[in-house]
Amino acid sequence: MNGQFDSRAPAELEAPALHDSVRPLFIPVHSENDLAVVAASVGAFASERTRDPVHLARIRIAALELATNVVKYAKRGRVEIRVLVQGSREAIELIVSDRGPGIADVALALQDHYSSGGTLGLGLPGVKRMMDEFELHSSAELGTTVRVRKWLR
Ligand SMILES: Nc1ncnc2c1ncn2[C@@H]1O[C@H](COP(=O)(O)OP(=O)(O)OP(=O)(O)O)[C@@H](O)[C@H]1O
Ligand SMILES: [Mg+2]
Repeated sequence: MNGQFDSRAPAELEAPALHDSVRPLFIPVHSENDLAVVAASVGAFASERTRDPVHLARIRIAALELATNVVKYAKRGRVEIRVLVQGSREAIELIVSDRGPGIADVALALQDHYSSGGTLGLGLPGVKRMMDEFELHSSAELGTTVRVRKWLR
């Protein structure tokens, strides 16, 4: 099941491209202990690109929610954080992926308060709301990949 980027992406001719001098950062997620590393590493990386406290909080919370899902539902996976450039604009992109069991019903998983794990069920829908773009791919064969973007300027 494929999600789609929503229409808030800036409509410019050039597609967003990877920043040519900022290397992506990969953070392995193997257990709950790695969640603190995700928060710290993502926070430090994003702080190099923006001082906006709301942007920084949203990026860190999104990474934490998605990485928490990896630990909870897929056991292990990874977080990638990178910088995209489109014209004069810059975005932080998070790609959180795992090779776990996948999400059988993505539309259901994106609904507020749906949880198969007995918690609030607000992680995915919250991340979708707090970021500018959200894309989720999931299958039993390939696991789950969530890609989100926050445009900084
Ligand atoms: N990486 C994943 N692999 C497999 N299933 C997932 C994954 N991420 C989310 N899900 C499924 O989607 C549901 C909704 O996820 P969401 O993060 O919104 O809620 P939650 O993790 O159950 O609760 P909360 O995040 O509020 O503590 C989960 O209950 C789970 O069934
Ligand atoms: Mg969750």
